[in-house]
Amino acid sequence: MLFFIDTANLPEIREAKAFGLIDGVTTNPTLFSKEISKEKGDWRDIAADVCREVDGPVSLEVVGLTAEEMIAEARDLVRFGSNVVVKIPMIPEGIKAVSALTALGIETNVTLVFSPLQALLAAKAGATYVSPFVGRLDGLAQDGMHLVQQILTIYANYGYATKVLVASVRHPRHVLDAAIMGAHAVTVPFAVLKSFAHHPLTDSGLEAFLKDWQKVIGTP
Ligand code: E4P
Repeated sequence: MLFFIDTANLPEIREAKAFGLIDGVTTNPTLFSKEISKEKGDWRDIAADVCREVDGPVSLEVVGLTAEEMIAEARDLVRFGSNVVVKIPMIPEGIKAVSALTALGIETNVTLVFSPLQALLAAKAGATYVSPFVGRLDGLAQDGMHLVQQILTIYANYGYATKVLVASVRHPRHVLDAAIMGAHAVTVPFAVLKSFAHHPLTDSGLEAFLKDWQKVIGTP
């Protein structure tokens, strides 16, 4: 399973990299808006830094609403690095843009996906990734992970190569379910990723091992 982190924050990306578990990064305009400052520079400086820092794919999102605008922005965004994946919103103009970008050999991540038919259109247009937003669906008392299962079934039925990138993750259970279902990738805030390492039985077990060692052999 691919682990992406959902952030445009460089220190966070560097910390996550040190764990050796990060396959790529996803960003969006909201995440960028939290980073832009006099010290860090404008979004272009930050995007360039993120693309340099990360070895795997970096999703950068367009903000235009017509296919023409999205294609022009995509051509601009891919200049930040060979690892750029252009994030396109799941609207009709977005699908038009994904088809054109696929023909140009530019990788895409179709974002803001909330239904299996939207995901089917994205795959048909040749998207590299599709991002179902599971947490936002759960927030409306719907079932985000059921959507992921439906998308995986549809893609398997027809052999679509589009990867399912589970997004809007709120807790470890989303990641566990995604892994059991065989989703290709998840994008998570780093805090959620780090929390996977903890288990109370690990902590109490380690404490007991060290105490027993200390009783007989002394402090290491
Ligand atoms: C995915 O690529 C998005 O950036 C992200 O997961 C959005 O999630 P949110 O619902 O936490 O904003």
